[in-house]
Amino acid sequence: MKILNLGFLCSHGGSNMQAIINSVHDGRLQANLCAVISNNSQSGALQRAQKHAIPNYHISEKTHPSHVDDKITELFKYHKVNTVILAGYMKPVSHCLIEAFSGCVLNIHPALLPKFGGRGMYGMNVHRAVLQAGEQVSGATVHLVNSEYDSGKILGQMQVMVQPDDTPETLAARVLEIEHALYTDVLIKISQGESIVGNDVV
Ligand code: GRF
Repeated sequence: MKILNLGFLCSHGGSNMQAIINSVHDGRLQANLCAVISNNSQSGALQRAQKHAIPNYHISEKTHPSHVDDKITELFKYHKVNTVILAGYMKPVSHCLIEAFSGCVLNIHPALLPKFGGRGMYGMNVHRAVLQAGEQVSGATVHLVNSEYDSGKILGQMQVMVQPDDTPETLAARVLEIEHALYTDVLIKISQGESIVGNDVV
């Protein structure tokens, strides 16, 4: 069993991060909450981090022009992060950052990849596309991050039924609920050695 040292990248509310924090606090997940970084100084994620006394930083193109990911990597290394959790992070991550935490950068996507992934597939766009395609089932996917959008190894998925009267907003709300359960479950499995990440069992 490996203790996960988690570093979070978030842009908005941070509800997925909060679900993971809760699972650490109630003992379901053995992990250290090392640092939270957001490109959005007003994000709920930074407020949540402050509330839980987790080191937190606002790092963006404004604060660190042309070297955002270098700074993120430096801070995560300083805080001994070994697993990077993208949770609603709206910026692409660079090859350098992915290499620095090779095989240990995870993302959650609000659909059943490989469907409804790729450039432009974020937020409500995803749920709109699912409904337009007439899908009966949607869900969430946790996957490893590589240099192409939403195409890394899938680590876990959970499904929800699409309801006939769903709007993108109602579907998004139900998917977000299962995201919280899924991200935590995947991390628990990784910490218990059930998943193979990169070349290591972590
Ligand atoms: C989630 O739907 C996630 O899948 C997507 O952005 C949303 C983030 O929500 N990438 P939160 O910030 O965790 O509340």
